[in-house]
Amino acid sequence: MATGKFFREVVLPEQKLQNDNVLFPTVLSPASSASVALTAFKDAIKDQKPWLESLLVNCGAILFRGFPVVSPSDFNDVVDAFGFPEFPYVGGRALRKQVVGRVYTANESPLDKEVPFHHEMAYVPKSPTKLFFFCEEEPEEGGETPIVLSHIIYEKMKERHPEFIAQLEDHGLTYIKIASDEDDPSSVTGSSWKTAYKTTDKNIAEERAAKVGTKLEWIGNTAKTITGPVPAIRYDEASGHKTWFNSLAVTYSVQASERKNSWVELGNGGAVDDDAVKDMLRILKEECVAIPWKNGDVLLVNNLTVLHCRRPLIKPPRRILASLCK
Ligand code: FE2
Repeated sequence: MATGKFFREVVLPEQKLQNDNVLFPTVLSPASSASVALTAFKDAIKDQKPWLESLLVNCGAILFRGFPVVSPSDFNDVVDAFGFPEFPYVGGRALRKQVVGRVYTANESPLDKEVPFHHEMAYVPKSPTKLFFFCEEEPEEGGETPIVLSHIIYEKMKERHPEFIAQLEDHGLTYIKIASDEDDPSSVTGSSWKTAYKTTDKNIAEERAAKVGTKLEWIGNTAKTITGPVPAIRYDEASGHKTWFNSLAVTYSVQASERKNSWVELGNGGAVDDDAVKDMLRILKEECVAIPWKNGDVLLVNNLTVLHCRRPLIKPPRRILASLCK
């Protein structure tokens, strides 16, 4: 495959050979051993956008390593160079802070906590199609952002739990979250309804929630947010695969924790099969790829075909920023 003059495909020990013998993810570095300027990187992105997009469809994720992306505003420029429209984080469950432009922190929850596997915003009908991550400060140990091809999870689950998959395909899932009026930075799904819908007005919150397929019921100043049923398995036209497009892993872990402020049920009100979910968590761990972050890494993820998570940080620091695209 031609990579042009600017990019060179490199091989890392953590990559996995996936279907069609393609390494997952693709890793691109500068072709030249001489130092590369940020403007040259941005120009190459613009010049080779069709090729980069086809890589993203065929492979699912691209890690750009070794480019001079140092600050959040450098990262903002790189995201801009791709020219994908920004996806507004309305109705999002995580607490994220704007850093600059279209760049936000990935998740404000304590870094020693795991964020389980998910497609970004799989709990609302319309999700971002692409995600960018940027490593501003690489972890000393732990804190990786593992990724996994979603159709592999679907296929394994279908083989092992055909009845559960039939339930998911027939009914979809309904996600419920109790959102107070104050953010909870200790939770991976800690955004208040005020933060999620960017207003302090209950009526405006209801209107904005309705636009992302969510109903709000009030218990005093606390909102019970109900989204669904939404499909738990989706068909990705570009790759021709069915994907494991849901937030079962995140919701299940919150549901299992002491907090219990968020849960999931089948679209017909039935309970989700516990054993199948536990097996799913094992499969996700077995199939994922976790490449330790390096300063300046930019990871572009096809959110329609790839799930991501956050491993607990063992030794600080760690600063990973993110940007979502339509
Ligand atoms: Fe995420």
